[in-house]
Amino acid sequence: MNPFFKYRRSVAVTVLIFSGLLIFERCMNNGTETAGSKKPVFSQFAGSASCAGCHKEICNNHLGTAHYLTSGVADKNSIKGSFDTGKNIFQFAANTVVAMEKRKDSFFQVEYLAGREAAAYPFNVVIGSGTKGQTYLHWNKDRLFQLPITYFTAANEWCNSPGYPGKVVFNRPVTSRCLECHSTFAEPASTPDKQPEAFNRNTMIYGVDCEKCHGPGAEHVVFQTKNPGVKTAKFIINPASLSRQQNLDLCILCHGGRLQKTKPSFSFKVGDAITDYFALNDAVPQFASEIDVHGNQYGLMAASKCFMKSNTMTCNTCHNTHINEAGKTAVFSQRCISCHNTEHVAECKMKTTVGGGISSNCIDCHMPLEQSRAIVVLLPGNDVPTPAKMRSHYIKIYPNETKKFIEQMKSSANKK
Ligand code: HEC
Ligand code: HEC
Ligand code: HEC
Ligand code: HEC
Ligand code: HEC
Ligand code: HEC
Ligand code: HEC
Repeated sequence: MNPFFKYRRSVAVTVLIFSGLLIFERCMNNGTETAGSKKPVFSQFAGSASCAGCHKEICNNHLGTAHYLTSGVADKNSIKGSFDTGKNIFQFAANTVVAMEKRKDSFFQVEYLAGREAAAYPFNVVIGSGTKGQTYLHWNKDRLFQLPITYFTAANEWCNSPGYPGKVVFNRPVTSRCLECHSTFAEPASTPDKQPEAFNRNTMIYGVDCEKCHGPGAEHVVFQTKNPGVKTAKFIINPASLSRQQNLDLCILCHGGRLQKTKPSFSFKVGDAITDYFALNDAVPQFASEIDVHGNQYGLMAASKCFMKSNTMTCNTCHNTHINEAGKTAVFSQRCISCHNTEHVAECKMKTTVGGGISSNCIDCHMPLEQSRAIVVLLPGNDVPTPAKMRSHYIKIYPNETKKFIEQMKSSANKK
């Protein structure tokens, strides 16, 4: 491939998904722990393997979710990109190339300058389920650093990680806030004022797993194992028993856009008030039209009439986070209808126009896919960058989407 073209593409890819990250880094200050706040510690976690004995179905289903898969040890199954000759090269500049290579049982990103090996670092940790993309980290003693090459799913191609235009670097540190959103637990091994932050490698709990949403579970496991006759739960949190705001706060921890932390990462646990850990009213408006990865599903939902005029809506009204329901439009539409039916709140006025099929797709007209401003790639052979698309959580009437929907409906009817 023409190296110039490759390079141009790499610049476009730089503004990818991950462009939000720099801003995250800047927003992060180092809060200090207040006396009395009970921060989870590693020994309180049991690990999800230990839940399977008693909650088998939930555990099996959860293995297929983007949450569970959002981080893990890098291996041939978890890394999505190709190591095949011809597909494993990324050209940074005219004489700078990074190759993805399998050496013995490990995988490496190898930098070549004018054909000579200059550096090689291993893929140790994968971040991202691969729904949109994946980025990779390597350990240097007890610190984590991002590798220069990232995988972009829509194009099925390797591309450069953000902020690496033309120059290959292997020393960009990964922060605790990054891990707080993409894993269940990581114990800091350095004081908050020390950069780059260090982590205790033996305490990493990868994936957004059971205990992120239910609290550390070791005590629950011990109790329920010792008392098999007891059919009620002890020492574990069911979000269903929490308030609406507490439920929202759990999801806001990671789906609330750019929050400025006021306490160290991994201090927040389910049931806590998010405002005790983050300054929510910073310069970034709560409702920004940010639908992008690292965007703000909460802010968009909270600006919608559905949310403002119902006393009950949370993320869980539509999402069963134990199951991967991506793409199940009809299932989601039933959740709309649970409120929007003849007995409850307003019904759609388009029922007669659309016909019976309306009950299987409320989503395309009221939560359209919108163009991401952060995920923009120049695909091979194209001159114009292609944006990825994300579901808007701003639920409202979109006249243009309705027009499109009805045109598509008519044209597919004509084809029959
Ligand atoms: C030895 C069996 C056992 C193990 C192991 C176990 N649980 Fe439970 N769990 C129970 C029982 C019994 C209940 C109460 C009945 C029910 O809700 O299913 C329960 C209930 C729960 C509830 C609902 C609590 C409520 O108040 O409604 C959650 C959440 C939960 N467990 C999470 C976990 C997680 C997470 C793990 C692994 C870290 C785990 N459990 C491991 C037996 C177990
Ligand atoms: C610890 C951080 C964290 C928490 C807490 C969290 N999420 Fe997520 N969530 C993520 C990350 C990270 C992803 C992206 C995973 C990926 O694709 O790598 C994600 C993805 C999702 C997705 C998309 C799934 C898909 O199939 O693409 C949904 C839906 C979702 N979360 C809902 C929720 C809800 C509802 C809550 C609250 C009950 C919640 N999340 C709590 C971090 C979190
Ligand atoms: C992203 C957050 C999230 C993750 C991860 C998660 N849960 Fe849940 N879980 C919830 C929420 C929210 C509820 C309450 C749902 C409701 O409102 O009824 C719940 C409810 C439960 C319950 C109560 C019974 C039921 O079926 O509703 C059990 C038991 C449970 N979870 C176990 C688990 C186990 C085991 C895992 C890991 C395999 C897990 N959860 C992972 C959010 C999560
Ligand atoms: C505030 C929480 C948060 C922080 C901090 C954060 N992410 Fe994310 N990340 C998410 C969520 C949520 C998604 C899922 C897409 C969405 O909803 O915007 C995601 C998506 C991704 C994806 C794409 C995953 C996929 O499969 O589509 C990658 C890769 C990623 N993040 C890497 C990182 C890295 C690396 C860092 C730190 C340097 C980081 N993120 C910091 C919450 C966060
Ligand atoms: C928890 C109940 C609930 C759920 C679930 C729900 N809504 Fe609503 N929705 C409402 C309420 C209440 C209103 C305000 C009605 C009014 O103004 O009288 C509303 C308003 C609306 C409006 C009018 C918005 C406007 O700006 O005029 C649309 C469109 C809508 N909902 C679509 C949906 C769709 C599509 C879904 C599923 C993705 C959904 N709703 C899920 C409760 C809900
Ligand atoms: C009224 C229903 C509804 C509510 C409430 C809702 N969502 Fe969604 N969400 C959806 C639908 C529909 C999709 C698209 C699912 C699909 O087609 O795969 C979606 C997709 C997502 C995705 C994947 C985004 C993408 O485009 O890849 C994430 C992440 C997510 N939701 C998180 C949340 C969080 C966090 C909350 C609460 C702040 C929430 N959702 C509240 C209906 C809802
Ligand atoms: C073809 C696109 C389309 C589909 C599909 C669709 N809607 Fe609508 N919806 C609209 C339009 C356009 C309006 C505004 C109609 C008007 O005001 O005359 C509307 C209005 C509404 C309203 C506001 C009604 C009021 O009285 O203010 C609600 C609520 C709603 N839709 C919910 C839904 C639900 C729930 C579904 C799925 C069962 C759905 N819509 C499917 C396009 C659609």
